[in-house]
Amino acid sequence: MDARTQLDVETQYRRAMGAFATGVTVVTAANGEGRVSGITVNSLTSVSLKPRLLLWCLGEESARYDTFAKADVWGVSVLGAGEEALAVRYSRAETETVEPSEADLFAGAPVLNTGIAHFACRTFERRRGGDHLIIIGEVTDLKVQSGAALTFFRGLYGRLDDPRE
Ligand SMILES: Cc1cc2nc3c(=O)[nH]c(=O)nc-3n(C[C@H](O)[C@H](O)[C@H](O)COP(=O)(O)O)c2cc1C
Repeated sequence: MDARTQLDVETQYRRAMGAFATGVTVVTAANGEGRVSGITVNSLTSVSLKPRLLLWCLGEESARYDTFAKADVWGVSVLGAGEEALAVRYSRAETETVEPSEADLFAGAPVLNTGIAHFACRTFERRRGGDHLIIIGEVTDLKVQSGAALTFFRGLYGRLDDPRE
């Protein structure tokens, strides 16, 4: 495959995956000095019910790779509609720091004090998957509340109203 065709296939792959609408989460973990970082993630997937396992994929090129690859305990906050600014903020390394006033310690894991669902996780397994690290977490605690979701579809944020409300 020549370089041009390779680029086209990558673009097509991104576009096709972008047709798979997802929610938006922020994964949070403390680095070695105790500073909490957040990273915007939409690769979150449930893996298993017994035990309760979930995974997300961390890009090897991420400036925050070390913090998240090394973390043994971490949190996932599912963003609600109207929290797009948080998704934008935690997609950038310059604004990744989660201040103490913005975080809760949930079952020993840092989570954002906003969002519509939260998971406290302990790293269960790490596996390389191409240019990403697949991080599988065991869910040690969780909480969920009603409310509309922030979505990501075809490269744009949107909202999905709670069908139960
Ligand atoms: C909606 C959305 C979803 C994202 N999902 C992931 C993801 O699942 N895994 C990941 O490593 N990066 C993901 N990113 C990219 C990171 O948030 C971040 O932008 C990227 O790691 C580059 O910044 P960094 O080098 O400072 O980490 C996502 C970004 C956006 C906007």
